[in-house]
Amino acid sequence: AARVFSGIQPTGVPQLGNYLGSIKNWVALQTQQLQQGRSITPHEQFISIVDLHALTVPRDPEKLRKETIETAASLIACGIDPSRSVLFRQSAVPAHTQVHWVLSCITPVGWLNRMTQWKTLNFRSAAAQNLLTGLFTYPVLMAADILLYRATHVPVGEDQIQHLEFARDLLVHFNKTYKTKLFPMPTPLLTESRRVMSLRDPLRKMSKSDPQEYSRITLADTEDQIVLKIRKASTDSISGITFDPESRPGVSNLLSIYAALCSTSPKAAADVMSNFTNAQLKNTVAEAVVNSLSPIRQQMCRLLEDRGYIESILRKNEVKAREVAEQNWKSIAKCIGLSY
Ligand code: TYM
Repeated sequence: AARVFSGIQPTGVPQLGNYLGSIKNWVALQTQQLQQGRSITPHEQFISIVDLHALTVPRDPEKLRKETIETAASLIACGIDPSRSVLFRQSAVPAHTQVHWVLSCITPVGWLNRMTQWKTLNFRSAAAQNLLTGLFTYPVLMAADILLYRATHVPVGEDQIQHLEFARDLLVHFNKTYKTKLFPMPTPLLTESRRVMSLRDPLRKMSKSDPQEYSRITLADTEDQIVLKIRKASTDSISGITFDPESRPGVSNLLSIYAALCSTSPKAAADVMSNFTNAQLKNTVAEAVVNSLSPIRQQMCRLLEDRGYIESILRKNEVKAREVAEQNWKSIAKCIGLSY
């Protein structure tokens, strides 16, 4: 059977890129069927709030706990239904760290050295003195997540593709090393908006960790904040609206955002708005973003009035996640000669 697995870091409220690149897809997958080979198969979906991954940069414990609950609330507000998707905290399932260790023992260091996110760090900077081992082995933990649930499909944004390829290589390596066929190859699932760009610098991706607050829209932004951020978005001085990501990255990013929210294509949106000024384009996009995100923000606020309820939902789902994970851990342990 097919199994969908994905994860999100609990670092504050998700931003629009998380929503359009992944979360929206997770919601859709709750009611869609997947193609496997020639047949359509039903699937289970696991969504992990990856609090262990979040530890790769130092976190304040209380803040991490708080943001974990807020991330859960935001996902439910977006439409993740905890009775259809197994929504759980990574740290509630000990097998993630067990598999991480097992995989790290067959991972060549060279493979990790080649990862873009690691390679592009400035090792001469003062901050580099504090680089942590966990950040280096981050992709191994992500591969462990995928392997532990024997995931067949992994819906992510484009920035995670290299991590996913690493996981695929590692699974092949595992199967070969232990002469097993235990683990299926995970296929990435991308959306049309696989790469939402920063509103300030449309050549970079929108990110929660960007120091410029005006670079992103978060699911907690008020209507006024959304309107202001889009009004300040960087565009260009060419007249008329066209979709051309190469030469007009700012305008094209706004069109892509609009298209994803209004179920159209960026090209079709550009055709409709061809005579618009930048200001008119921004008004139209801002309205679409407000219409889509306002109900989510309101629902999130309601949910967060009762954090105990969110906690209880997670705990219930974690029983199920542990059940599946423990069973798979046993087959892994057995396969490699550990006690099980
Ligand atoms: P994270 O928390 O950085 O992001 C969660 C999801 O949002 C997508 N995303 C974007 N998509 C389009 N445009 C953007 N600007 C944008 N920014 C973020 C990400 O691609 C991701 O799908 N390592 C992962 C979490 C993880 C995971 C896993 C994912 C841990 N284990 C196993 C899949 C399978 C991460 O840090 O995502």
